[in-house]
Amino acid sequence: MISVSGLVMGLAGCRSLPPSKPSSEWTPQEARGAVVYQAKCARCHYPTTTHPLNGPGLQAITKVKAMPSGMPPTDERLTAVILSGRNMMPATRLNDDQLQDLLAYLRTL
Ligand code: HEC
Repeated sequence: MISVSGLVMGLAGCRSLPPSKPSSEWTPQEARGAVVYQAKCARCHYPTTTHPLNGPGLQAITKVKAMPSGMPPTDERLTAVILSGRNMMPATRLNDDQLQDLLAYLRTL
């Protein structure tokens, strides 16, 4: 269903995206993932918009059909991008707990 505000935003050229989960509702795992994000990702990616910093903004990155590259935002694809990097994005070293926490956080965006 297209809401009126979504239609207006669409006409204005902005994509209307589902809202992020507020930090007051994060699970402990999502909160740990936010810490990982701040340490490893925030210098290049805004979490609250799709506007680019060094890389694309990641709001709703797990809710879109396709990421900027065209790849679907599955856990497998996200894991590959995070651990191996992509073009100008460097690989990030994370242990499995950090990776799972980060993926949980990305799903809140
Ligand atoms: C040094 C800057 C930098 C850091 C740090 C960084 N990224 Fe990126 N990221 C980029 C750039 C640049 C791109 C665009 C890559 C391309 O050409 O497709 C990107 C792309 C992405 C994409 C989109 C991939 C696609 O298929 O379109 C995701 C998701 C992403 N980054 C997540 C992360 C996460 C999560 C972290 C933290 C672990 C992170 N990035 C850390 C620069 C960075």
